[in-house]
Amino acid sequence: MYHFHTSVFQELSGNKAQVDIKDKSSASVVDSSKVHLRWLDGTTSRFHSFWLRDHCHCPECYHSVTKQRLVNTFKIPRDIKPKTVTLTSTGLDITWDHEDHKSHYPYTWLNKHSYDPKITDPYLPEGTPKITWDNSIASNLPEVTYKAVMESDKGLAEWLNNIVSLRRLAINEHVYGFSFVSGVPVTTEATEELAKRISFIRETHYGGFWDFTSDLGHGDTAYTDLALGAHTDTTYFTDPVGLQMFHLLHHDGEGGHNLMVDGFQCAKILKERHPSSYKTLSEIGIPAHSAGDLSTHIIPSPRRNPILNHDPVTRDLVQVRFNNDDRSTMDHLEPEQIDAFYNALFDWNKVLTDEKNLLWTKFQPGRVLIFDNWRCLHGRSAFTGKRRMCGAYTNWDDYRSRWRTLNTSAEQLAEDL
Ligand SMILES: [Fe+2]
Ligand SMILES: [Zn+2]
Repeated sequence: MYHFHTSVFQELSGNKAQVDIKDKSSASVVDSSKVHLRWLDGTTSRFHSFWLRDHCHCPECYHSVTKQRLVNTFKIPRDIKPKTVTLTSTGLDITWDHEDHKSHYPYTWLNKHSYDPKITDPYLPEGTPKITWDNSIASNLPEVTYKAVMESDKGLAEWLNNIVSLRRLAINEHVYGFSFVSGVPVTTEATEELAKRISFIRETHYGGFWDFTSDLGHGDTAYTDLALGAHTDTTYFTDPVGLQMFHLLHHDGEGGHNLMVDGFQCAKILKERHPSSYKTLSEIGIPAHSAGDLSTHIIPSPRRNPILNHDPVTRDLVQVRFNNDDRSTMDHLEPEQIDAFYNALFDWNKVLTDEKNLLWTKFQPGRVLIFDNWRCLHGRSAFTGKRRMCGAYTNWDDYRSRWRTLNTSAEQLAEDL
């Protein structure tokens, strides 16, 4: 169970978005160029007149269905001024000196999007603290049933809530970055249907929905029986895949167990133990490639991306991007960075391979694993025999969109924009 900071709760509950409408001085026009709005708690938000006019959400200026701007920003006079400003019970009414245009701004919207001062962190709903895990999670693995996921949106929401790593505080209970699904029919058709419950499947040079054996069907170690250390997939894409799903359909040999590591947990540990290594891996870009098939030569743009990627505003860690096997030639570093880079890489590897952080599970036909590829690293032990595995990738943006619309009201989501 999660405990929240009281001030965060207040921000989310909208208590701050209240105005004393009986006091006419709560809203005022200053130098014609700005509108000041004083909230009940004494804070004053200042809005540029042009900004307000540009953000008018009346039916003429904003399409309520498509949520797209209709107003022609470039036809608004740069020196536009409010003619009248009126406090209503729900928001601010402004009549503009240009074309007598009338705008209405709900208090909740003005409060949420106040930029001078910033009242609500614009990223707050999703840039929340994360619960991370080590291998003690083995005794309590997040799992939902195939039946629940396929039969109702509630089941689907529960599934996605297990996987999602950054989330709205008010519904923050379980934050794993992965989930199992039990009771899945042992067929490619059922597995594909399951993947499509979230979103369309991401096609790559490996195809869309994959069904593979260790026959080196593609020039990648995934298509062999070798052991694979913990890595994230597709570090060579500009936009690495968001989710990865695995379903073992058949195996008549030994080994091939699944390894999962919480990249956010490892990053947290690295930061505590070796802050300078954490900084190095957050700053130094790693070039990557996929070039195992003759017709493929994939490199990302930008060419190099750090292992630890942060949101530039919140500084939250948002993406771990690590596959040592897919790393290209490190010829871009300054000579004095070479040792710092390898030292940091060794520190990172030590945390990633620490027994405590390794979650080993057995693949079983009927039990699907899905995980967030921007957070969880995966690997496997070597195996013998014939093994058939199927699965799919999902885009990050599309799975996040599905999760948002399942968990948050349309009104709330529209107001966030
Ligand atoms: Fe992989
Ligand atoms: Zn308008």
